[in-house]
Amino acid sequence: MDKFIIEGGVPLTGEVNISGSKNAALPILCSSILADNTCTYTNIPVLRDISTITEVLATLGMVIECPDNGCIVIDPRKLGSYEAPYDLVKSMRASILVLGPLLAKYKKAKVSLPGGCAIGVRPIDMHLKALTKMGADINLSHGYVMAFTEGLKGTRIVFDTPTVGGTENIMMAASLAEGTTVIEGAAKEPEVVDLAHALMAMGAQIDGAGQSTITIDGTTSLSGLEYSIIPDRIEVGTFLIACGITRGDLVLKGARADHVVAVIEKLLEMGIAITHRDDGSLQVNGKQEFRPIHVDTVPYPGFPTDMQAQIMALACVTPGTSSITENIFENRFMHVPELVRLGGRLEEKGHTVIVQGVDQFQGASVMATDLRASASLVLAALNARGMTEIRRIYHLDRGYENLDEKLVSLGARVQRVRGGL
Ligand code: EPZ
Repeated sequence: MDKFIIEGGVPLTGEVNISGSKNAALPILCSSILADNTCTYTNIPVLRDISTITEVLATLGMVIECPDNGCIVIDPRKLGSYEAPYDLVKSMRASILVLGPLLAKYKKAKVSLPGGCAIGVRPIDMHLKALTKMGADINLSHGYVMAFTEGLKGTRIVFDTPTVGGTENIMMAASLAEGTTVIEGAAKEPEVVDLAHALMAMGAQIDGAGQSTITIDGTTSLSGLEYSIIPDRIEVGTFLIACGITRGDLVLKGARADHVVAVIEKLLEMGIAITHRDDGSLQVNGKQEFRPIHVDTVPYPGFPTDMQAQIMALACVTPGTSSITENIFENRFMHVPELVRLGGRLEEKGHTVIVQGVDQFQGASVMATDLRASASLVLAALNARGMTEIRRIYHLDRGYENLDEKLVSLGARVQRVRGGL
C-alpha cells in the first residue's frame, strides 16, 4: 500500500486547478442507467471511487469508454444485468445509487447492502422506505436488497433528516415514475443540484433542486446527454486550509465560491484572507495571525462534515481554544489520535473535540483511516517541523485527484512511496 513522506514547513505558493466533484460525478454516472442513448460526461475526476462506479455500471452490461482524461462516455443500451455485487459495493457505498435508476427503468434490482464504513453505520433505511412508498417491493436477503416493482408511482416523500444519497436515489427514480413526486426535507447540497441539472438535460421535469422541497413530474423516457460536472467544493476547502496551515499564498482556479460559503466564512473568521478574483478564481493568503474557532457540522448550506477533519488540523496550530462538533456521522474523529501523534493537543468529549492550539505540528509516522481523515493528516504534515510518514494513502486516492502532484507543484515536499505495508 502506498504511503506519503512529507517534509513540512514550506509555504505553498502558486496556482492550482480544482478538479471535478467526486460526489457530483457518482450519482450523475448512475443516472445514465435511465437514458435511452449515449451519455457523455466531462470534468470527471480520475480517482478510485470513479473507477469503482464505472466497474459497477460495466458489471450491469453498460458500455463505458474513457476517450481522454476526465471524459467518460456511457452507452446504456446493452444493460443486461440488474445486480450490483457485494465485492464492488462494499468498497464504495455510493454504489447504492444504482438502485433507484434500475427500479425506475427496468423495474428490478439486486444491490448488495453497502455495509458500514469507518465513519459510521450509514444505513439506507430512508432510501428503501421512500422507494417502497413509490411502489417498490423490497426484501433484504443474504446481504442484498432485492427490489421489484410493477411500475414506480409518484408520491409525497418526507425525509425526517436530510439525506444526500436518499434525495439523489429518489430524484432519479421519480424522473421515470408515473405521476408527480414531491420530496420534502430534501438535501440541498450542490451535488444534488448538479444531478438535477443533468437529469433535466436528459428531459426530466424537476423543480426546486437546492431547496428543501423538490417536485419531479415523471416522464416516459429520458435521452442521453453531454454534461460537465461541477468543481469539487471539498477540494476547494482543503486547498484553502492547505494555504492557511502553511502560511502560503495561493490562487484556486475553477473554484465555485458559492458552493463553499460556510467554509469561507469560518476561515475568514479565523483570519485567513480570501478574495474573489474577476475570473472567478479564489485568491487566498495565510500570513495573518489566526484566531480560534467554533465549528458545528450541519447539512448544506451549513459547515460540511466533509471539511471537519481538515479544519481541525488548522485549529491545532491556531493560538487559543477551538471546538469542533460533528453532528452528521457518529464516528468521524479517527483522525484525532493521529493528530495527537503529530503533536496536536485535542480532547474528545462526545461529539465535540476541544483543541488547544500549539505553535507547529511535529513530524511523525501516522496512519490514514478514511478519506477526509487522510486529508487532515496531509495538512498537518505540510505544517509540521521535520518528516511525516502517512501510511494507507489509498484512502486519499479515493477522493482527491493527484493531490500529491498538485501539492508538489505548489512547492510542497511530498514523496509517494509505492507498495509496502
Ligand atoms: C454523502 O453521503 C457524501 N457522499 C458524503 O461524503 C457526505 O459526508 C454526506 O453525504 C453528508 O454530506 C457522497 O455524496 C458519495 P447522507 P451519504 O445520506 O449520501 C444518515 C466523502 O467524504 N442516514 O446525507 O451517504 C447517515 O447515517 C463522503 O466524500 C440514515 O440514517 O450521506 C448520516 O448520519 C463521506 N439513513 C446522515 O443520515 C439513510 O437512509 C447523512 O447521510 C441515509 C442516511
